[in-house]
Amino acid sequence: MSSGSEQAGVKPKSGAAAYLERSRAFVDACLEKALPPETAAPTTLHKAIRYSIFAGGKRLRPALAFAAAEAVGGSWDDAAPVGCAVEMIHTYSLIHDDLPAMDDDDLRRGRPTCHKVFGDAIAILSGDGLLTYAFEVLATCRRTEAIPGVIKAVATGSGTVGMVGGQVLDLEGEGKPATEASVAAIHRWKTAALITASCEAGALSGGASLKEAELLRNYGQKIGLAFQIVDDILDLTASPETLGKTPGKDLQAQKATYPAVMGIERAKLEAQRLMDAAKAELQALGARAQHLEDLALFVVERKS
Ligand code: IPE
Ligand code: IPE
Ligand code: MG
Ligand code: MG
Ligand code: MG
Repeated sequence: MSSGSEQAGVKPKSGAAAYLERSRAFVDACLEKALPPETAAPTTLHKAIRYSIFAGGKRLRPALAFAAAEAVGGSWDDAAPVGCAVEMIHTYSLIHDDLPAMDDDDLRRGRPTCHKVFGDAIAILSGDGLLTYAFEVLATCRRTEAIPGVIKAVATGSGTVGMVGGQVLDLEGEGKPATEASVAAIHRWKTAALITASCEAGALSGGASLKEAELLRNYGQKIGLAFQIVDDILDLTASPETLGKTPGKDLQAQKATYPAVMGIERAKLEAQRLMDAAKAELQALGARAQHLEDLALFVVERKS
């Protein structure tokens, strides 16, 4: 029998879509409290931070942190600081990624980029501010015994052998011949590392054992790489309206991407293979990992 919403011609939301919507409402309320209001001095900086963080975005990383906490018997309240922190760091990485010295983009989350509205200096400082707030909020995790592990996971995923290092490899790879191995190395650091940290730190904040944290780390590495492969594919296939950013930029900048080294069809298969491998990591966690399974599917099927 079809549901009421189907009868009314409205497509029911998939498991992941509904979970992401609930995660968004929850993390946005937490971010609202964690960040200074626009009226706080220096107002330009706080306006710019809020402009970028509340512009939209899928909120995938917080959702992963919440689902990882749940998968080990923890709650969203346990993982709230991790959800806020990874979204702050992710938003900072986007603000800096869009700067003229990096990918030089004008559109992000459907709006003019931070530096287009506030100037390069405020955009750089907004990123710096968000990164700093991330660690302030991590210090408020309810399970205080988890805080050192949480901080280590997030710092490693965001730093020079994680997201920041990956951004360096990405820029240095422009215009150079790439191989599957070299692109995988870039993508593991620039994107998968923070997604991995979202899963691992989310799990630790929810009381994970070392074994559970390791499973979540393995899951995160796989869906994190799949996520960037799909980002590369969407850059070639999606419209600015659905993406909220300008497509076609990777070809223009001669970026090292999965489609560039293996074509779109093989890149899609590789993302699917990684999704299946990620799901296999969840088996030992049982039914509590259902939301993580749904999110793995979302990562490869998403259209924006
Ligand atoms: C874009 O990330 C940058 C990458 C790491 C590929 P998202 O696609 O998660 O961006 P938002 O948060 O939804 O805007
Ligand atoms: C960005 O990768 C990864 C980050 C650490 C921000 P991209 O440069 O492909 O991200 P988009 O396509 O601009 O969102
Ligand atoms: Mg980039
Ligand atoms: Mg970019
Ligand atoms: Mg991209």
